[in-house]
Amino acid sequence: MTQSAGRRGQIEELVTGRDPREVAAMFDAISPRYDLMNRLMTIGRDQRWRRLAVAMADLRPGDRALDVATGTGDMAQALAAMVTPGGEVVGIDIAAGMLELARRKLRGLPVRLEQADVQQLQAHEEFAAATVAFGLRNFADRRAGLEAMIRALRPGGRLVVLELVPTQGPAKPLTMLCERRILPLLGRVVARNGAAYAYLPESIERSLTTPQMEALFRDCGLVDIRSRRLNLGTVAIVAGVKPHG
Ligand SMILES: C[S@@+](CC[C@H](N)C(=O)[O-])C[C@H]1O[C@@H](n2cnc3c(N)ncnc32)[C@H](O)[C@@H]1O
Repeated sequence: MTQSAGRRGQIEELVTGRDPREVAAMFDAISPRYDLMNRLMTIGRDQRWRRLAVAMADLRPGDRALDVATGTGDMAQALAAMVTPGGEVVGIDIAAGMLELARRKLRGLPVRLEQADVQQLQAHEEFAAATVAFGLRNFADRRAGLEAMIRALRPGGRLVVLELVPTQGPAKPLTMLCERRILPLLGRVVARNGAAYAYLPESIERSLTTPQMEALFRDCGLVDIRSRRLNLGTVAIVAGVKPHG
């Protein structure tokens, strides 16, 4: 593939056009069973992936961190453990129902929660790290969302994305079976919302691949880009640093 064709392909995938109100309504509907579904779908591994992503943010006690699409607050909780004592985590999300659960979970921790769309972020060079776990693929404009997060970073700060990614290679038949059959079935039985969990495999297929995320990070001016693939290549962590000057 020529570089320009690759670039065009990548840019087409950046604008999903998803209506944030519909996305918020879907997450509000599944919020009561969201954590349980995560534990079941990943056989309990999702919290470890979040901890690995948080480790790549390289935070210290006293730092301030931003968690976008914070949902029920699992990333914010892991970030708070790294910045304590003296630091703060700001978590934003568009879904009020998800934030309500986060509020209960994070009581007593140095975490401030706000209902906001990533594209409305006004923060400028405030944070030592900005993270988004399993949220990027839902943004209406993925590039604009990441750019807003990068603006919020201090020079030298880190952007970390944890995301489900489409798989290629020998594991594909197995992962397709899980994503297309088992997850929607779990969604119907446990979350009583087959539609939301039928949306999941479709959104994973339209997610960026790890090389596409790395290219986007480079395109947004980040340096020292590193990535990790987990769970047979179905999960990726990509991290990059905002350069000084
Ligand atoms: C799959 S959940 C991930 C929640 C959490 N980060 C976690 O690790 O479990 C995706 C979250 O992204 C939020 N979201 C989607 N689009 C958003 C946007 N444009 N701005 C802020 N949050 C958004 C949804 O409301 C939802 O809570």
